[in-house]
Amino acid sequence: MDAKHATAIPTPNSTGEVVTLVDKRTGNEVQLPVLSGTSGPDVIDIRKLYAETGYFTFDPGYTSTGSCASNITYIDGDVGILRYRGYAIDELAEKSDFLEIAYLILYGELPSAAEKEKFEQDIMQHTMLNQQIITFYNGFRRDAHPMAVMCGVVGALSAFYHDHLDIFDETDRMIASDRLIAKMPTIAAYAYKYTVGQPFMYPKNGLGYAENFLHMTFATPCEDYKVNPVLARALDRLFILHADHEQNASTSTVRIAGSSHANPFACIAAGIASLWGPAHGGANEAVLNMLTEIGTKDRIPEFIKRARDKDDPFRLFGFGHRVYKNYDPRAKIVQESCHEVLNELGIKDEPLLEVAMELERIALEDEYFVERKLYPNVDFYSGIIYKAMGFPTSMFTALFAIARTVGWIAHWNEMIADPVQKIGRPRQLFTGAADRPFVPIEKRG
Ligand code: ACO
Repeated sequence: MDAKHATAIPTPNSTGEVVTLVDKRTGNEVQLPVLSGTSGPDVIDIRKLYAETGYFTFDPGYTSTGSCASNITYIDGDVGILRYRGYAIDELAEKSDFLEIAYLILYGELPSAAEKEKFEQDIMQHTMLNQQIITFYNGFRRDAHPMAVMCGVVGALSAFYHDHLDIFDETDRMIASDRLIAKMPTIAAYAYKYTVGQPFMYPKNGLGYAENFLHMTFATPCEDYKVNPVLARALDRLFILHADHEQNASTSTVRIAGSSHANPFACIAAGIASLWGPAHGGANEAVLNMLTEIGTKDRIPEFIKRARDKDDPFRLFGFGHRVYKNYDPRAKIVQESCHEVLNELGIKDEPLLEVAMELERIALEDEYFVERKLYPNVDFYSGIIYKAMGFPTSMFTALFAIARTVGWIAHWNEMIADPVQKIGRPRQLFTGAADRPFVPIEKRG
């Protein structure tokens, strides 16, 4: 644990203003304080609302609800800003590397050279899996989805690391964090190896984080395998872009799971499950399947028509975002990376890229997408890169999970350290049957 950069507690400030609500039924007034952070909209503090008025708020999907205060990531979706700990994503993607970003996200500051070296060593010394964990894989079908394997294996890690599981001990939390960040690539690579029937490759701790993952995935014991540095850098950059995204569905899942003081391995397994859905992390796999289904540029209008059709549940995967109502800043970087990777691999005229670029061009001009501010998101181009690197589509969301583990664990740490944290327990607006007597079975119609 780095004492200099211990987890800071988020501290919202009172603006001194209040919002006054008048209950027309009773004539009672309640004054709700307004809090501010360092950036972004102020919030109305409704923690005393129920006690003082007897009302709950109603906000399915949390579109107007701040669930916590946080110091980690800031997004301004209207103008396309994403910052980790105050640093703009494009600058980080260009100048930094994934483990440095992991340190930044976890501890709040960029590391000194000595801190960076120590952190890298701390992570890389935990890359191996306990040999008994490896036997778990044999219990899965060969065609198991890697995300199913990851949910199971990550959840099972808690059965192996009782030694440092005191969640109220900061050092124990950091050891669990290091273990998760370190082992996630090994777990994902082994999920792939198991599917293709190749031997598991042990981690090589002298390699970089993304480089080691590519090695564990694509090397075999039969021949020397040299990781292409352009691909390692591109993957490292994708990991940076996916490392955190404030209170998205999977991160909120991790926070809620952790709010009951569940152990971190169980909480991250819950995050993986949430990420898997096609409306969230599973979109990268869904995008590639969609582009493959479209196949050629001339079929794009047919799919745009379906996306616009209210009676058709079809959506253009890789388009739209709950927060970004402008171009996703990560999507721009991924698009550049996509060209670099295809050039490096000598892939000319990749039909999927052609379909993607034309789809983007048409959608950005189409009234339906313009009106709803639907822009390509981070996952619109990432799948093309992963495919070019040799990953099957089923691995795409697993790659996302590797990177997002950093954000999940940082939020989990921040929440546990926050003295205002309570068990996550939303309320509801009950619309079911009111009180009614039990009817014996012989009297039911
Ligand atoms: N294709 C077509 N129409 C869309 C799309 C899309 N991809 N996304 C949103 N819309 C439409 C909706 O039908 C709705 O139209 P309406 O107002 O006429 O009813 C309007 O845009 C608003 O959509 P909502 O679903 O209310 O927006 P929400 O913020 O809840 O959803 C989401 C965001 C889930 C990302 C959505 O845009 C979507 O499903 N996109 C496709 C899946 C995807 O790419 N997910 C990845 C997100 S990024 C990530 O998790 C890493």
